[in-house]
Amino acid sequence: LKPPVRVAVTGAAGQIGYALLFRIAAGDMLGPDQPVILHLLEITPALPAAQGVVMELNDCAFPLLAGVVTTDDPNVAFSDVDFALLVGARPRGPGMERKDLLEANGAIFGPQGRALNKHAKRDVKVLVVGNPANTNALIAQANAPDLDPRCFTAMMRLDHNRALSLLAEQTDTHSTGVKKVTIWGNHSATQYPDISQATIDGTPAAQKIGRDWYETTFIPTVQQRGAAIIKARGASSAASAASAAIDHMRNWALGTADGDWVSMGIPSDGSYGIDAGLIYGFPVTCSGGTYTIVPNLPVDDFSRRLMDATADELRGERDAVKALLG
Ligand code: NAI
Repeated sequence: LKPPVRVAVTGAAGQIGYALLFRIAAGDMLGPDQPVILHLLEITPALPAAQGVVMELNDCAFPLLAGVVTTDDPNVAFSDVDFALLVGARPRGPGMERKDLLEANGAIFGPQGRALNKHAKRDVKVLVVGNPANTNALIAQANAPDLDPRCFTAMMRLDHNRALSLLAEQTDTHSTGVKKVTIWGNHSATQYPDISQATIDGTPAAQKIGRDWYETTFIPTVQQRGAAIIKARGASSAASAASAAIDHMRNWALGTADGDWVSMGIPSDGSYGIDAGLIYGFPVTCSGGTYTIVPNLPVDDFSRRLMDATADELRGERDAVKALLG
C-alpha cells in the first residue's frame, strides 16, 4: 500500500456526500492500493449528522480508510489535503434570483479558496460540484493566488456521462463503445453536448444517429437531465453526481484511456477562442496527474454558436461576482 493521501469533502452530511464518501473510502476514486484520510467539512448545525456518517464509515471497516477528520472550520478541513471535493453549496431558495445565488455561494467559496490557499498541498486537485459549479470554482480559484489556477476544476462529468449513456441507448450499444464526446462550457442548461468528433463502436456518431434527433432531442435532453431527475425523484441527482465526481478525480489523478477524452471544467488558456481564465468545459486528456486540452479540433458554425452562447453565460456570471474575485 502507498502512504495515505488526504481527501477533503465539503457538504459531507448532504445527499451527494452520502453517496460519495463510501465510494472514496472503498477505493473507487484513487485505486485499490491508495489509503485515504477523509476530511469532512460541514456547517456547524450539520456536524451531528456528519458524525453519524462517520459512524457508518467506521462500521464499514474499509481496509483503505486510514482516518477521518470532521470539522466546521475550512482551515482545518483543507490542512495538507491532496484532493478537495467542494460539494456543499447554497441551494437556490424560493424567489432567489441567479444573482442572489451567486452571491450566497461567493460567501462560501471565497473563504474556502482562501483556506485552500493557506493550508492545502501545493499540487492539490480541487473539484467543485456545488452549483453554480463553474463560477464557484472561479471564485475559489481567484481567492487562492498562491496556488496554480490549474488546481481548480468544475464538474462537467455528469453531463458527459449522461451524453454517453443516451447515445448508447439510442444506438443500442453500451456506453463503453461511445468515445470522444465533449461537453463545452457551463454546467447549466446552456452547456453544449458536442458529438461532432464522437464515435460509436468505432463509427462516426453522425453516421449512426440523425442530425434531427441530435439537435432536437439529444442536446436538450442532456441539457435538461438534471431537471428531469428532480421531477422524477423529488430530489436532485445524488448518486450519479457522486459517481461523476469519482470519475473526474480518478481520471485526473490516474489518467484517461488511450483514444478517448473526458470533459472537465478548467481555467481556459484561451483555446478555442474562450476567454482566458473562465472555468469552461473542455475536452481533455489526463496523464501524470495533469490535464491537457485536446488541441486543433475542427469547430463548425453550429458548434461555434453554441460554444459562444455558453461562454457568454459564464462571462455574465463572472461579472455578477466581480466583487468576490479579488
Ligand atoms: P444537500 O443539500 O443534500 O447537501 C449539501 C450539504 O452542504 C448540506 O449538508 C449542507 O449543510 C452543506 N453545506 C452548506 N454550506 C456549506 C459550507 N459552507 N461548508 C460545508 N458544507 C456546507 O445537496 P446535494 O444534493 O448534496 O448537492 C450539493 C450541491 O451539488 C448542490 O449545489 C447541487 O446543486 C450540486 N450538484 C451539482 C452537480 C454537478 O453536476 N455539478 C450535480 C448535482 C448536484
